[in-house]
Amino acid sequence: MDGRPQAEQTEPPRVVLGVTGGIAAYKACELLRRLTESGHQVTVVPTAAALRFVGEPTWAALSGRPVATEVWEGVHQVPHVRIGQQADLVVVAPATADLLARAAHGLADDLLTNTLLTARCPVVFAPAMHTEMWEHPATRENVATLRRRGAVVIEPAFGRLTGADTGKGRLPDPGAIFDVCRRVLARGDLATAADLAGRRVVVSAGGTREPLDPVRFLGNRSSGKQGYALAATAAARGAKVTLLAANTELPDPAGVDVVRVGTAEQLREAALRAAADADAVVMAAAVADFRPAEYATGKIKKVEGQQPAPVALVRNPDILAELAAHRAKPGQLVVGFAAETDDVLANGRAKLARKGCDLLVVNEVGEQKVFGGDTNEAVILGADGSDTPVPYGPKEALAETVWDLVLARLT
Ligand code: C5P
Repeated sequence: MDGRPQAEQTEPPRVVLGVTGGIAAYKACELLRRLTESGHQVTVVPTAAALRFVGEPTWAALSGRPVATEVWEGVHQVPHVRIGQQADLVVVAPATADLLARAAHGLADDLLTNTLLTARCPVVFAPAMHTEMWEHPATRENVATLRRRGAVVIEPAFGRLTGADTGKGRLPDPGAIFDVCRRVLARGDLATAADLAGRRVVVSAGGTREPLDPVRFLGNRSSGKQGYALAATAAARGAKVTLLAANTELPDPAGVDVVRVGTAEQLREAALRAAADADAVVMAAAVADFRPAEYATGKIKKVEGQQPAPVALVRNPDILAELAAHRAKPGQLVVGFAAETDDVLANGRAKLARKGCDLLVVNEVGEQKVFGGDTNEAVILGADGSDTPVPYGPKEALAETVWDLVLARLT
C-alpha cells in the first residue's frame, strides 16, 4: 500500500522522470516512451541544463503532458511540493554528478531537487558521467548516502563515453532502466525498494560449454533467463551484482557487472574470485558435470568407412559444493539450483545435503518445462529444514522469492 486512497489505486502509476544535463539526456526519450507506452502517467522534470540537450517540446510530445521546468511556474498549484508528493516513482535518468551531490545534500534549488525532497515513493537514480567523476570520492560518498537512505542507484555501464574515452560511466540501456523502474514499482514502497542495498551478490547464469575441438562442444539447453532474472531483481533491490554469464545471448541487466565465461573451469575461477567479498552466491548456471578428457586442437575429421573414436569424459569440479565448503567469509549464503526429472523433492533434499548449500531451488524439468521459457515453478529447500513452494509464474517472481529467503538469512 502506498497510502493513497483506494479509489485512486486503479489510476495509472504516476512516474516522475527527472532529466539532468548530460549528453545521455537523449536516451531518456526512449525511457519515457517505454514508460508511457506501458501505461504509466509520466511527468517530465528536466533541469535547466537538460533543456540545453533536449528541448521542452520533445518531453511534452513524448509524455503527452505539460512539462514542469520551474518552481516559479503555476505557483498556485504549488508544483515544487505536489509533483513529488503525488508520485509513485521518481526516476532520474541521466543523473549527473551534480544532481547526485545536490540530492545527497538535500538541496532544493530547482524543481527536480524540490521534487526529490517531497517524494515519499521509491527513487531510482541512473547516473551517467565520465569515469573520473563517478570514481571521485565526493561522488562515491554521495552515492553511498543516497543508497543508505533507500534510493536505488543503478551502477553505470562500461563502454564508450562522450568523446574518445572508454570506461565506466555510460547510462545503461533505456530498456534496462525501464526494467528496473518496473520492478521497483511492482515492489511498491520506499522501505522495501532497496532492501538489498549494501549487499554484494554473485549470480551464475546460462550453461557451460566444454570444447571437444575448435568447432564442437558439449553443452546444455540453459537459456540463462533464470540467472538473469536473479541478477536483475537483485540490482533493482539495490544489491551490487556480479553476473557470471556462461554462453548467454540476453541483454545485460542495468547496473550489473557481467563477467563472461565459457567452460566450467572458467566459471569456477570467476566464481571463486567474485565470491571473495560476496554476501551471497547463487549458482543458477547449468554446469556441465563432465568435459571431454582431451581437446583436439584441430577439427576431428570423419574418415570414410570408419566409426568415430569414442569420446572419453572426465568430471568437472563441483563449484557449488566447493563454494559451500570453503565460504569466502563468515555468514556467506550459498544457493544452488537443481533440475530434477523425477522424485523431485527427495532428490532435492539429498542434493542439498550433498552440496552443503543453504538453499536449493528445485524444479522439475522435461522436454517442455523450464529450459528457455519465461516461467518456472519450484520448491526452495532450506538447510534449516524449511521448504518454500513457488507457484508456476514468471522467473522474476521466483527470483524475488530467492532474494527474500536470502535476505531473511543474512539479517
Ligand atoms: O549436481 P547438479 O548438476 O544437479 O547440481 C546443480 C547445482 O550445482 C546448480 O546450482 C549448479 O550451478 C551447480 N553445479 C556446480 N558445479 C558443477 C555442477 C553443478 O556448481 N560441476
